[in-house]
Amino acid sequence: MYAAAETMSPTRPHTEVTRMPHTDTTRYARVIEASKRIRWDIDRDVIRGRTFDFSRKFMPDGLSLVARLPFLTTHEARFMSQVQGRTYANMFRMIERYIASKTVELSNDYHFGDQVAFEALVRFTDEELKHQELMRRLDVMMAAGMPTGYVFKPDANEVARAVLSSSTWAVLGLTLNIEIVTQAHYRSSIEPDAGASDLWKDVFLFHWKEESQHAIMDELEWKREHAKLSAAARDAAVNDLIGLVAAVDGTVKTQAEADAEYFLQNMGRTFTPEQAAQVRDGLYKAYRWTYIVTGVQEPRFAEVIGSLVTPAQMERIGKALEPIITHASK
Ligand SMILES: [Fe+2]
Ligand SMILES: [Fe+2]
Repeated sequence: MYAAAETMSPTRPHTEVTRMPHTDTTRYARVIEASKRIRWDIDRDVIRGRTFDFSRKFMPDGLSLVARLPFLTTHEARFMSQVQGRTYANMFRMIERYIASKTVELSNDYHFGDQVAFEALVRFTDEELKHQELMRRLDVMMAAGMPTGYVFKPDANEVARAVLSSSTWAVLGLTLNIEIVTQAHYRSSIEPDAGASDLWKDVFLFHWKEESQHAIMDELEWKREHAKLSAAARDAAVNDLIGLVAAVDGTVKTQAEADAEYFLQNMGRTFTPEQAAQVRDGLYKAYRWTYIVTGVQEPRFAEVIGSLVTPAQMERIGKALEPIITHASK
């Protein structure tokens, strides 16, 4: 259909159809190539007929931070990592709702233009829809071996509506952060943890492989959006990004509270009030660490955001993050 429109349009300059690709087109073409090479199927490649082994951890120690709760028995620490591992899958399922929607919106700019960029963003969207399906499947599989009562509090559609009401600049900043963090988590914590479930580890290996391409596109699109904005609009967008981080923090706090109650109710013993408070705070710290701190501390994210914002704006962002980083790090 597009080809017909191109040949039938008397006003369309010939160069628009045959022009040499610009730098971004080349990068989008490489993304498509990698996406085709890496593409996996949920059942054939990832799950492969397996079920979860509940004698193993899910969330690795480097993210669950269970070592900070030394009064937990081995069994309790493992259950806590399974609760956190289930929430980790659900967090991605939730986040991927807004990311897929935003990617479709970004692709609008290319409908009648760069068809390579258009295809790359369509593949990106398709992969995020598949990831949501994978995470839904995981939640069902994890529920089969865990006590009833687990609740994932945030509603994916409500979160998506709230995030998408923010400026595109801020949404792309948050998205780059999330997509980069999937690689960082796998390399630094998930892969090296020998005691974690092989199936759980595989899920986040395959997930990360497709996320690598997404992070490249986030960066290209973030820079493209940045170039469109005035200095005042950029400054307002920095405030939006700070607002989104605060929203993520509120979301993880709510889920940490829900997960703490689920954990405490299913341990079959009474914790002292002090220990229960440590469990609640420990989960909140672990979630701040996993979903915020590890992302903003990634050198690649710091490099990209550093190239877009002014020193004063960076200072504002740093001030907003400081209490979160301090709390999560101790
Ligand atoms: Fe994803
Ligand atoms: Fe992604």
